Amino acid sequence: MSVSSDVVVRKAVIPAAGRGTRFLPFTKATPKEMLPIIDRPTMEYIVAEAAGCGIDDVLVITSRGKVSIEDHFDQAPELEAALAEAGKTSELEMVRASSEMARVHFVRQGVALGLGHAIGQARDHVGDESFAVLLGDDVLHPDSDVLSRMISTHERTGAHVIALMEVPPDEVSLYGCVEATEIGPGLVQVHSMVEKPPPEEAPSNLAMMGRYVFGPSIFDAIDATPPGRGGEIQITDAIASFTGSGEVYGVVFSEGRYDVGSKADYLRAIVEFACEREDLGPDFEAFLVGYVRGRGLLD
Ligand code: UTP
Repeated sequence: MSVSSDVVVRKAVIPAAGRGTRFLPFTKATPKEMLPIIDRPTMEYIVAEAAGCGIDDVLVITSRGKVSIEDHFDQAPELEAALAEAGKTSELEMVRASSEMARVHFVRQGVALGLGHAIGQARDHVGDESFAVLLGDDVLHPDSDVLSRMISTHERTGAHVIALMEVPPDEVSLYGCVEATEIGPGLVQVHSMVEKPPPEEAPSNLAMMGRYVFGPSIFDAIDATPPGRGGEIQITDAIASFTGSGEVYGVVFSEGRYDVGSKADYLRAIVEFACEREDLGPDFEAFLVGYVRGRGLLD
């Protein structure tokens, strides 16, 4: 494995060009990456997570019908002037924050040919650097240290690093699954991986979640990856080409991940984030307790 002491992760790529079929009809005209978690779009949590890890250059992979993502991270001079004139200082700060949290760039994936293909669109922007990938519909809790652990593992070892979580055996077929050996606390070396296996063929119940840190060698691997499961160019297949030489590590975590592209997890994100908010939490929790009691769900 090539380890360079000056490897630094300064860039992030956020694929957000998928069709979002699990969230139709909402996604017919609105990107799922803009689903609000209370008053902030999903994408804002994700860009904030990258910025919190010291990344200030973010490339979003978009597609037709996703212009609202670009607008959200742009400046809004008329709105800002109106808020300033009305003395709405905290609203003004919130509006400015989304255009100031990172330098956000965009490139289109003309056809949704899969996650590997989407990440491949970042090659010109990323160049010969290491970079993080954060899926545009996967939110990690703001207290999560998963991405920073992944970045420091990559900067220390030069390996490609994936995020892993144990899932119930009947859910392995929803994810990429790995065969791995523990090499430190919360750290594994990955020996093989397979995309969405039937439960009886899964190598374990350690499943890949929506965070990756790659060296630039991933781009050649993506180029060499033929369409796989579902006819899509799978990032799992591209990463798998490095497992034989021991160049893939996994950071294991167990909580604080929300797949906003699934309706059930989206609801969980809203409820948990609302309960944690100082302005909303106390009243909302009181409402929830009353609601649950009223439904006869508590003794
Ligand atoms: P998903 O598989 O969850 O997204 O990809 P999807 O295909 O949009 O969703 P469903 O299954 O039809 O509901 C994870 C992330 O990768 C992006 C998606 O936008 C999402 O943020 N993606 C996926 C791309 O950018 N391009 C693709 O070709 C596929």
